[in-house]
Amino acid sequence: MQIYLDNAATSMIKPEIVPKSMYEFMINNGTTSGRGSYKRAIQSDRLIYETRKLVASLFNFDNPKNIIFTSNITESLNLAINGILNEGDHVITSSLEHNAVWRCLKTLERDRNINISKIKASKEGFSNPKDVENAIQENTKLIIFNHASNVLGTIQPIKEIGKIARKYKIPFLVDTAQTAGTYPIDIQNDNIDLLAFTGHKCLLGPMGTGGLVINWDGNINPLKSGGTGGDSAYEYQPDYYPNKLETGTLNVSGLVGLGEAIKFINKEGVKNIHNKEKELIKHTLRKLQDIDCIEIYGPKDSEKTVGVISFNIKNKTPEEVAYKLDAKYNIMVRAGLHCSPNAHELIGTKSIGTIRIGIGYFNEKEEIDILIDALREIAND
Ligand code: ALA
Repeated sequence: MQIYLDNAATSMIKPEIVPKSMYEFMINNGTTSGRGSYKRAIQSDRLIYETRKLVASLFNFDNPKNIIFTSNITESLNLAINGILNEGDHVITSSLEHNAVWRCLKTLERDRNINISKIKASKEGFSNPKDVENAIQENTKLIIFNHASNVLGTIQPIKEIGKIARKYKIPFLVDTAQTAGTYPIDIQNDNIDLLAFTGHKCLLGPMGTGGLVINWDGNINPLKSGGTGGDSAYEYQPDYYPNKLETGTLNVSGLVGLGEAIKFINKEGVKNIHNKEKELIKHTLRKLQDIDCIEIYGPKDSEKTVGVISFNIKNKTPEEVAYKLDAKYNIMVRAGLHCSPNAHELIGTKSIGTIRIGIGYFNEKEEIDILIDALREIAND
């Protein structure tokens, strides 16, 4: 038996219909979208538009054309950040950002002289919206927060931060890598202007899919220039969405799979998915806390975290524990910094990292129990 607990990296197990629909598309259609006018290509256009509508409705958004498909959330975040921030601008962000945001900001600090305010979070990873308001300057051009940390799982007060951003008319960009598909998100009610998502994690879709939902009227400069299938005599990117920011051949088979994954999520219900995961988180946290020499980082309350749990075992390196879990018990977890050095700086683990469990919808309590027994044995080794 193999136990997969690295869902924060990717949901390895997909609903059967996801690969099946991709295979069927490649065998029975296989054409590009937005280019040809023959029947098969029009069917391809229709499939892409259907996925746009499914993504929009998942986030309670009413404008599918303002969904820009990308190859992953790193590209979505780069697109928004590079497209909005100019020379000398100020940006506010959390102290728990993934390198997909952080490296992008540091690069612009070096190359465009931008100024970064990093909001200090509590040891459990909570940011205070008041600190965000206090950090606003005249030249603040963007506020960026992850919805949930990929190291601590901590769910941020997105709605409250978004309210502040609206008050000062500053666009609010949310990284939903660890929440889209497993936590209810309402782009209107949660005051989100720009929502970056990935298809291959909690959305249960294939790798190579992601996007940016644009619920904001300001300008975003394109990250790429190229073919859009129309306006071809015009020498620049068209200025309407999605073509302004979506260029080159789309990953049609991947987006077909993503569409089916969202249909699966709708059928199960995001709330039910969330509730099942919450039960698993509660169970895991309770059992982990029973092992003496384990230190858990982040919230110990399943209401305040997603299925990402970081911990360490006294006198063992995370790599050693992850290796033993895999080699002896066939349990897959991730060890190290998880591409988020800032979060480790906050909890004091930057030099060693943590062992991270990523719980997903297809995990069961019995798997957690096997993990706990294995960890107990490793701890007593
Ligand atoms: N960002 C992914 C993770 O946290 C890959 O593991």
